[in-house]
Amino acid sequence: MSEAPKPVRIVLLYGGQSAEHEVSRISAASVLKAIDTSRYDVVPVAITPDGRWLRSDATLELMADATRPLPESLDASGTDLAPLASIAPAHPDQQVVVLPILHGPRGEDGTVQGLLELADVAYVGAGVLGSALNMDKATAKVVARAAGIPVCRWISARDSELDDAFVARVGSELGWPVFVKPSNMGSSVGVTKADDPAGLRAALAEAVKYDEWVVVEEAVVGARELEVGVMGNEEPRASVVGEIIPTHEFYDYEDKYVDGTSQMVIPADVPGEVAAEMRALAVRVYRALRCDGLSRVDFFYEADGRGLLFNEINTMPGFTKYSMFPSLWDASGLPYAELIDELVRLALARHQHRASHRRLR
Ligand SMILES: Nc1ncnc2c1ncn2[C@@H]1O[C@H](COP(=O)(O)OP(=O)(O)O)[C@@H](O)[C@H]1O
Ligand SMILES: [Mg+2]
Repeated sequence: MSEAPKPVRIVLLYGGQSAEHEVSRISAASVLKAIDTSRYDVVPVAITPDGRWLRSDATLELMADATRPLPESLDASGTDLAPLASIAPAHPDQQVVVLPILHGPRGEDGTVQGLLELADVAYVGAGVLGSALNMDKATAKVVARAAGIPVCRWISARDSELDDAFVARVGSELGWPVFVKPSNMGSSVGVTKADDPAGLRAALAEAVKYDEWVVVEEAVVGARELEVGVMGNEEPRASVVGEIIPTHEFYDYEDKYVDGTSQMVIPADVPGEVAAEMRALAVRVYRALRCDGLSRVDFFYEADGRGLLFNEINTMPGFTKYSMFPSLWDASGLPYAELIDELVRLALARHQHRASHRRLR
């Protein structure tokens, strides 16, 4: 007897070429485990670290264990994108949604989203502009500030402009210490705190390994790191507020993924009016920075100074069962499995809504 036809196919894209390949695999395994397979026909498509797309039916255990290579199924396609053919529905009434659980460059930055636009398929999360804008810290700050969102002081520059005059300008305009970052990156990769001109030169050399644009920011002193989940398209709503308490000097790559000793506090221990202000600011910046579907919006909280300062948006936040974004929604009354239902619903609604604005001839 054949199974009943399923109304929705979810193409779960995971892995990817960024530093967050591993966390993507753990997130994908969490999603696969929680998803209601009586309603969804789930097709996992892996992207290997060297960029090959594989339609692989990896077991959960293998999917989450990035020390082992992904298995290539018989229809593995080499370097082309043939597994994208799995976006074809299994039957004429089936709807298809791509869930790109991919973080960082070539996943969260609009590139994969562009491919999905060309394929005219519904997908979860921000579109091309929202993805690219939020991936680029320098441009995201310009747009946030124009929308009246408080941000810290910063200077951005290209790799060709990082001369002695630039170092002097940082000293006079921002003072010390500063944080130096590649503009397009994530997971704290290439992020360094610099205390003086020599430290700045070294930090700039590190940041330009990852991107041709760099951002130098004043260090927000004594900043608490608060994060909120936002979900929706036309009418986004915010979750409760959470706090990250890093165990290292700042929330660096090791602290995020290696030691795992940093702490998440949900809800954050902040005054009610601060949480309310942050949720309202998060929804504003989400709209200004063209998010759709979901995002995690991160702030610094300078308790004795300027209050809330917007840091960044992650358009595809970590999605393991224990990650901040799903935990924030769980604490807001939306458990993990229902979170996935809601994201699928939002993806289909957005696709349909956009199709109603005719842009092509
Ligand atoms: N201007 C700043 N002041 C104080 N701490 C900062 C600043 N910028 C970054 N940090 C620290 O570095 C971490 C990573 O920086 P972030 O901008 O969030 O980059 P990523 O996209 O890699 O997460 C933050 O979580 C925070 O701990
Ligand atoms: Mg961050």
